[in-house]
Order: sequence, then structure tokens, then C-alpha cells
Amino acid sequence: MTVLVTGGAGYIGSHTVRSLGESGREVVVLDSLETGHSEALLGADLVVGEIADFDLVTKLCRERNVRSIVHFAAYKSVGESMSHPLRYFSNNVGGSTALIDAAVAAGVEQFVFSSSAAVYGSPARVPVTEDLLPRPESVYAETKWMVERVLSWIGETRGLRSVCLRYFNAAGASFDSAIGEDWSVTTNLVPIVMKATLGKRPPLEVFGSDYPTRDGTGERDYIHVVDLAEGHVKALDYLDVGKPSLTCNLGTGKGSTVLEVLSATERISGCGVPHVFSARRAGDPAVVFADPSLAERELGWRARYGIEEILQTAWTWHSTHVDGY
Ligand code: UFG
Repeated sequence: MTVLVTGGAGYIGSHTVRSLGESGREVVVLDSLETGHSEALLGADLVVGEIADFDLVTKLCRERNVRSIVHFAAYKSVGESMSHPLRYFSNNVGGSTALIDAAVAAGVEQFVFSSSAAVYGSPARVPVTEDLLPRPESVYAETKWMVERVLSWIGETRGLRSVCLRYFNAAGASFDSAIGEDWSVTTNLVPIVMKATLGKRPPLEVFGSDYPTRDGTGERDYIHVVDLAEGHVKALDYLDVGKPSLTCNLGTGKGSTVLEVLSATERISGCGVPHVFSARRAGDPAVVFADPSLAERELGWRARYGIEEILQTAWTWHSTHVDGY
């Protein structure tokens, strides 16, 4: 039995491919390499192609005896999704439905989906529990929520069991620094802090210093990418024993503010983080952090690492891979 990982050459995908291999599973990756890196696979089996290619996916699933799919392949920039909405609907929703169609046709039984805490929008309360009604505030978030709904209905009508994992703020890199985040395309805080510290970009803009938080800056639940990867292994373990479809948060349950991220980075790197304060970024909520108890109860998963390990591994990765892969 093989696990097909779409988008396995991407940031979270590549860490998951590694964890799946370590769990003893046979893995094959399907990635277009549009944004992924073959180096990130560390030798895992790669098929270069599109998730929307029905013939390719059915053939691959049949030939490799694929029982489970872990689906990462998607565009992930919130800002770009607002300027190119149809590109996101087409790739993230159209691509996913084509993939699911092929999966069902080829007899795949289990599906793990890379969703996002972005589906909650600005949550009405924290910690965020899964029963909060999703209120996407971007096209990106909407596409994640739409695919969750498709999976729910295909579960109902075709029996495909799935786990949708709503990630909070993924960050960090592998502990041996073999793989990490390609920072050329990111707008997320941690890689930007690293880049600014290394003098590879202008100073960090701290978006807002008047939020109702302990130091006035935005608070988020940063989760180590290795913990996220292990969450996918646990999701497959869960499905492997025949359990029903599930949607759950992957977060730590603890928030860190932008200034806390800055000061911890200064301590770890021994360098100042050049930064300036600017206005709030439109659409940013003040505080978002997960209630991770459902994942702990149902999957037996909880985050092992905190902000310290996230920033330590991010710093080691970025300072040794200043130009990415
Ligand atoms: N921030 C800055 N300056 C920057 C970038 C970010 O101050 O240059 C601040 C933001 O205002 C926010 C925090 O750092 O308070 C984190 O911002 P990110 O852009 O890193 O992350 P978001 O919380 O906005 O969103 C991220 C992903 C989404 C995902 C979500 C899940 O980008 O795709 O986490 O919680 F859905």
C-alpha cells in the first residue's frame, strides 16, 4: 500500500514526506514543481505532473496500489488570491475536485487534506474550536473551505473517508536543516524576520502596535512544521483503523506576539532584527490561537515544540540557505 502525496515537494509537504517515510510507509509524490523543489524530497519517489490530470492520477493510483492520498498541492498566498481569484478557484478547487474524482475512480479509500485556520476568518472567540462556523475572509480561505465541503459530500455519497487538518501558523525547519522554507515567495512573519535579520531584505514592518494584546502587536499560534508533518502521519493512522471523517485544528494552543518573535530571534541569532512600526495590515485579526484538544483526543497528536524550537530551526535553516534551495 502506497501513500500518494500531492505537493510533496513544497514546504509542509516535504516535511510530511519525510515523516511518512520514517513511519515505514511507502510514498510517491505528485508535484508539478511549479513552486516545489525536487531537492526537498531527499530522494523520495517523484512523479512530475498535475493533480487535475485524471488519467495520470488514476494510472498512478492503480499501478502503485495507492490506498491513501495526502493532498497539499495548492496556491497559498492570501494576497495573490484576492488579485487573481479565478487562478485560486481553478487550481485549488478545480484541481482538488479532479484529484478526488480520480481518487474515487481508482479505489482510493482515505484522504488527508491540507486545510487552514484561515477558514475561521477573524474568529469570534479564542481559543478557536472546530465548531466555530467558518467565515472565510479571502479567496484563499474560501477555496480551503470549499474543498472541505466537497470532501464531506464525497464522504457521504462515495464513502471516501477524510481528515481535514486546519493548520495555524506553520513555521520552522527540519532539525538537521536538510529541508526548510523557500523564502523567495513568502509573506509570512517568521521567514521575513529571518531575511531582515540577515540583511536580505528591508527592515521588517511590524503591522500594528495598538492591538489589544500584551504588547500591542498581533498574536498568532506558530506551529513547528515537524509537528505539522507528524499530524499527517497520525491522521493516516486514524484513517487506517477505519475511523470516520474528521476535521480538526493543528495548533499549539499558545500564542506569540510579533514583538515576542522579534526578541526571541534576537536572542537566538545574536543579531538585531531591523524593524519599523507601521499601520495595521487590512484584515488581520488581533489574536488567533487554536484549541488543539480535538486533535489530541481523536488523533493522539499534540505539538511537541514551541516558539523557541521554531525560531532556532528557522534561523539555522535560513542562515545556511540564504538563497533557498
Ligand atoms: N506580520 C507583520 N509583518 C509582516 C508579516 C506579518 O507584522 O511583514 C504580522 C501579522 O500582522 C500577524 C503576524 O505577523 O500579526 C503573522 O502574520 P503572517 O502573515 O505570518 O500570518 P497570518 O496569521 O496572517 O496568516 C497565516 C497564513 C495563512 C494561514 C494562517 C493560519 O498566511 O495562510 O496563518 O492561521 F491561513
